[in-house]
Amino acid sequence: MSDTPLMMPGFGNDFETEALPGALPQGRNSPQKCAYGLYAEQLSGSPFTAPRSTNERSWLYRIRPSVRHTGRFTKIDVPLWKTAPDRDPHDLPLGQYRWDPLPAPNTPCDFIYGIRTMTSTGDARQHLGMAASLYAFNENMTDRVLLNADAEMLIVPESGTLDIFTEMGRMVVPSGHIAVLPRGMMAKIRTDAKMARGYICENYGAKFTLPDRGPIGANCLANPRDFKTSVAAFEDDDTAHQLVIKWCGGFHTTRLDHSPLDVVAWHGNYTPYSYDLSTFSPVGAISFDHPDPSIFTVMTAPSETAGTANIDFVIFPERWLVAENTFRPPWYHRNIMSEFMGLITGQYDAKEEGFVPGGASLHNMMLPHGPDLDAFEKASNADLVPVKLTNTMAFMFETRFPQQVSKFAAETDQLQDSYIDCWAGLQKQFDGTRKT
Ligand code: FE2
Repeated sequence: MSDTPLMMPGFGNDFETEALPGALPQGRNSPQKCAYGLYAEQLSGSPFTAPRSTNERSWLYRIRPSVRHTGRFTKIDVPLWKTAPDRDPHDLPLGQYRWDPLPAPNTPCDFIYGIRTMTSTGDARQHLGMAASLYAFNENMTDRVLLNADAEMLIVPESGTLDIFTEMGRMVVPSGHIAVLPRGMMAKIRTDAKMARGYICENYGAKFTLPDRGPIGANCLANPRDFKTSVAAFEDDDTAHQLVIKWCGGFHTTRLDHSPLDVVAWHGNYTPYSYDLSTFSPVGAISFDHPDPSIFTVMTAPSETAGTANIDFVIFPERWLVAENTFRPPWYHRNIMSEFMGLITGQYDAKEEGFVPGGASLHNMMLPHGPDLDAFEKASNADLVPVKLTNTMAFMFETRFPQQVSKFAAETDQLQDSYIDCWAGLQKQFDGTRKT
């Protein structure tokens, strides 16, 4: 599984790819008979009538049509993968919260059963909001296939390279890269590692896209060519499989006598993709102060209100700090948006300890947060020479809605009791007789 498959560059392109020569019809979508006895099928990620700029669909040429990949469904329980609105009661009051990483599973579990939803908001049935989850799994999906009809899935590996085989081909996604699976895409998720761990943002709303750059111009931040889409690959596998569909928060399964990952050729713009976060070109202050953290937005999932994202995916990558007479870490603030953070590697510059790779924090709507005491002291007294911030890659799922903490997140041993105390030492420094 460790080889690196061919990928196609570009964001939102109209791609075409075939795993067998001549499998892709030319000049038409639905010929009377397809090559190799394939079935033609359209997969639409937007309403048929969506404006051209947001219209997304792909044509798939497959061994069996998708109707043969369903049957009579049985409801199953995946108890810790939650969907908004999540009404499981718990007693955790309002607060700023932080969690340690998930421990390794002590029994075999695959990606689906390794998911622990931490927060959710909005309503999947209304195509509003999101869920933030952690995953930790140690068993590969070999004969089980996931279809998430509720959400586009942004997967952020922290440890363990993921091997994601979707209907539209194969992606290898190590830590430091991300993968995006469009709503309704069937996939097997596997790893060569003993355990794979990371984060998932389920986007119930409009798909992620690239933010406008405004005065920044035509370059920097996430550049379209650094997004990579898989080439066609298929399984012609007539062994028993199980399809698991997540649909409006419920889980339903059906038994198949073959693999549904049977697309031999496809074309279109509704595709999975991956992205190497190290190709993000950060823009920042070169004189004093620093811009709002939105300057580090990799992708945004817009809402119907301009500038108000359903979700922003923001990273805090390695970069030079050069601002003069400036408190360089993120400033203290309160915010109408709600921030779920994770750490992929190293250390985050606003926290000296307690926030570790695989862990998570939640700063909900209008709750104050910022550097801990040690980070404040260090930054307030630092010699402001140019400094390269290295060995760091934090990220944020930021949403317009307040986030509901799940029962699991409220009651897990990984919840840190002491997080709020990281600011307790910030004492009054005010002296009305001393201006400087
Ligand atoms: Fe914040």
